[in-house]
Amino acid sequence: MKIYLVTGGAGFIGSNFIQYILKKYSDITIINLDKLTYAGNLENLKCIENNENYNFVQGDICDRNLVSSLFEKYDIDYVVNFAAESHVDRSILDPETFVKTNVLGTVNLLDISKKAWELKDEIKSDKKYVQVSTDEVYGSLGETGYFTETSHIDSHSPYSSSKASADLMVKAYFDTYKMPVNITRCSNNYGPYQFPEKLIPLIINNCLNKKPLPVYGDGMNIRDWLYVEDHCKAIDMVINSGRLGEVYNIGGHNERSNLQIIKTIIGYLSENVDASINESLITYVEDRKGHDKRYGIDPTKIKNELGWYPETKYEDGIKLTIKWYLENKKWMENITSGDYQGYYNRMYKGY
Ligand code: NAD
Ligand code: TYD
Repeated sequence: MKIYLVTGGAGFIGSNFIQYILKKYSDITIINLDKLTYAGNLENLKCIENNENYNFVQGDICDRNLVSSLFEKYDIDYVVNFAAESHVDRSILDPETFVKTNVLGTVNLLDISKKAWELKDEIKSDKKYVQVSTDEVYGSLGETGYFTETSHIDSHSPYSSSKASADLMVKAYFDTYKMPVNITRCSNNYGPYQFPEKLIPLIINNCLNKKPLPVYGDGMNIRDWLYVEDHCKAIDMVINSGRLGEVYNIGGHNERSNLQIIKTIIGYLSENVDASINESLITYVEDRKGHDKRYGIDPTKIKNELGWYPETKYEDGIKLTIKWYLENKKWMENITSGDYQGYYNRMYKGY
């Protein structure tokens, strides 16, 4: 009976991950520690909230006493750290919060896990700390080439730099203390439960409300998109079979420009929902400061070592995603009431 401490499990990827592993394993216990910031939403976990293997704790990964008390109460086998401030635009407005949660919070989790595992059994390899990181730590690519695990760390935004700093602390705990760790670096995820400050749910929501679709710069920046369930599958494989101390890049060679993504969404909605949703909604706005041009993952290592491959093709994943938002309008309504509107108005002044 393995016990997982999943942090940030009420967010987009964390909630998909908890649903994924509770469906896959019946003999595990999940403790979900989440602060419930604006991005955390217990509605994402409604379908498993009464599962007897699932426990929710509201709290901050930076809180030493709280995290220590969880290790005292449970014999935790795996820590999977999703908790983070995750939005680049917010990091440009307020870098400090990103350093607190993403860097100091990670160090707090590492330190308490190390101490608890040392006390219990001299850090054996049946324990593991997994840091859920991002391809953004590698910076930006030109027109060719891909990020491999040995690419230089060359982060640009306060968000990616805070994630890169956290990764280096995870590496330090492995190199210095032989702490059993893995780091995963995934490309952009899309799918159900993503907060509508990120490109895909924001565009779907704005289309449905006939609001302008804000395109930063010329819309030709490129991201490498992966369906969220394929990311969850990769993390599960890394927990079970990743070689200790290793970094695994995760991505499915699915690069698209932002304009391509936006036009696909418009095309689907105009055909299936309302013909008046069309490209006239596209509105070019001021570019993001320090906007990374292109991300592209080389997933050879995780494919060869762990046998991972993406199961959902983009053409299917994007339809599944749009359909999910159409079927969950109430979820979107709830999440976009309150604070969201204030953020949106500040971010997209005049649009
Ligand atoms: P998200 O913003 O949707 O969710 C983050 C969750 O963390 C929220 O539930 C929030 O309440 C919680 N949280 C924030 N600060 C906390 C704190 N101090 N203590 C406890 N909980 C806290 O983010 P996401 O998109 O689900 O990303 C999850 C992780 O995956 C992040 O670490 C992110 O860097 C990484 N990642 C994301 C993507 C992507 O495309 N979204 C891609 C690669 C990696
Ligand atoms: P985002 O979803 O914020 O992810 P990230 O910046 O972490 O890759 O943005 C994806 C791309 O879409 C990025 O190039 C910025 C662009 N973008 C827009 O053009 N308009 C928007 O309103 C948003 C949120 C993003």
